[in-house]
Amino acid sequence: MAQAHARKESDEVLLASLGYKQEFRRAFTPLEVFGIAFSIIGLLPSIASVLASAMSNGGPVSMVWGWAFATCFILCIGMALGELASSAPTSGGLYYLTYTLSSPGSRNILCWIVGYASTIGTICGIASIDWGCTIQIAAAINIGSDLQFVATDIQLYGIYAALVISQAIICSLGTRVLARLQTLYVICNVLLCFIVIIALPAATPPELKNSPSYVFGNFTNVSGWPDTFAFILSLLAPLWTISGYDATIHISEEASNAAIAVPWAIVSAIGVAGVLGWAINVSLAFCMGTDLAGILNSPVGQPMAQIFLNSFGKTWTLVLWSLVVLVQYMMGSSQLLAASRQSFAFARDGALPLSRLLYRFNGYTGTPVNTVWFDALMSLLVGLLSLSGAAAINAVFSISVTAQYVAFITPIVARFAFENNFKPGPFSLGVMSLPIAAISVVFMIFMMVVLCFPSTPLPQATDMNYTSVVLGGVMTLAMIWYYFPVYGGVHWFQGPVSNMNDYQQQPSQGDTESVGKVSVDLVLVTGEKESEGDLKLRKDQEIH
Ligand SMILES: *[C@@H]1O[C@H](CO)[C@@H](O)[C@H](O)[C@H]1NC(C)=O
Repeated sequence: MAQAHARKESDEVLLASLGYKQEFRRAFTPLEVFGIAFSIIGLLPSIASVLASAMSNGGPVSMVWGWAFATCFILCIGMALGELASSAPTSGGLYYLTYTLSSPGSRNILCWIVGYASTIGTICGIASIDWGCTIQIAAAINIGSDLQFVATDIQLYGIYAALVISQAIICSLGTRVLARLQTLYVICNVLLCFIVIIALPAATPPELKNSPSYVFGNFTNVSGWPDTFAFILSLLAPLWTISGYDATIHISEEASNAAIAVPWAIVSAIGVAGVLGWAINVSLAFCMGTDLAGILNSPVGQPMAQIFLNSFGKTWTLVLWSLVVLVQYMMGSSQLLAASRQSFAFARDGALPLSRLLYRFNGYTGTPVNTVWFDALMSLLVGLLSLSGAAAINAVFSISVTAQYVAFITPIVARFAFENNFKPGPFSLGVMSLPIAAISVVFMIFMMVVLCFPSTPLPQATDMNYTSVVLGGVMTLAMIWYYFPVYGGVHWFQGPVSNMNDYQQQPSQGDTESVGKVSVDLVLVTGEKESEGDLKLRKDQEIH
């Protein structure tokens, strides 16, 4: 008990050293922080959503080896981010680091870019997950009605809206409820993975079973792209699936022992997802038969649902598919939770439109209810793109990855490119820092370019990839607002703002005292000066 109390204090003191007072309850244990990362990855349902892109761009080899190949790079990204998160665990995360690590002349604008990229990325994340869930529900209805019922666009949007709104209600509840739910999420996730790894091979009839040489050596490319490029495009499947792990950074202020728990949650969630996901892909490749075109073009619309249908039959497919939908739904609510915390941090610094309104705590639940509903509303707007066709909604999927990569790359590069006094936290890569950062940045830039390619060569307007157009458009608006005469951010935006002297918000009990002892406002305002308290804290942190 005394130890727990000491740990709570050290979390709060570290946060104070970064210029923020404790406002959230630290309700998440390390396992629950891992749960957040793992449930946002939402392994099996995510693989289901993007299986088509691996299957059509190389079949078994892309599913199995593409996955393994991409996982190594994603792990590098996770380690580079973990190192940053460990040094400054605030819910502003990457954005806060961008400020402290950049040169005085560039820090405000870089911060603005990272803040907006994160906000857009997390909101498009909600939209893409919930859209994936909508399509899965439609597939379930389709299977249930023996392929008779096909939902219209308006009906699909109705399902989508119901998902987003119900998740907003869940996320408005108290942090404690949300934290406890994470354990359930992890259990459902893992259960589903093992069903596919163990039960699927057991249920698959012999005529659909594939040989090991097919699973590990057959490359079937039906996309029309040259083989090498098709393989690279297939990497979008693991990238899409294993993403959103930075969400844990955004709940740093709600986690106990955050400087250690958050980086380890990121790295272990990627590691576990990499290994389990590989096993799932191997299992699917063994059990899908060799008629890939048949699976890809089936009226069910979801290759994994079709594989289930072939192996398990209708009833069991519906049972399992319901579980897939449920886990995807949970993934959406975790994503909304993370997005709302990110928007909260950005609004705290005044950068979002209506920041004053958004930076509010609901006194009863102790959660930022206004940002939850703001993000939900934005996702509903983004979801309207689905009415204008598959290409537009695919752009939303891509943006959730590319926008996040903008937010990842900036602080990782800033750390090495600018003169600064970066101090590693307890999670540190030592001499491997620079090589790992370099590998991950090159990989992310390369994949951002790839994500802007259309799914087939010589695309028609309907299957054009609008990622660059949409992301570029939104970022241009953000830039215009920054440089706008008189009202633009350039005239007033100061990066992360300390709230240490701001007592309008209700600090939770006992916080003011421990925080009050450290005079740290200077650290944040100048970004360079260190108070004694700051240095002492680092040492404290290492001991724990
Ligand atoms: C992959 O498998 C398909 C279906 O059995 C076969 O037609 C094709 O020739 C195989 N390709 C290679 C490279 O082995």
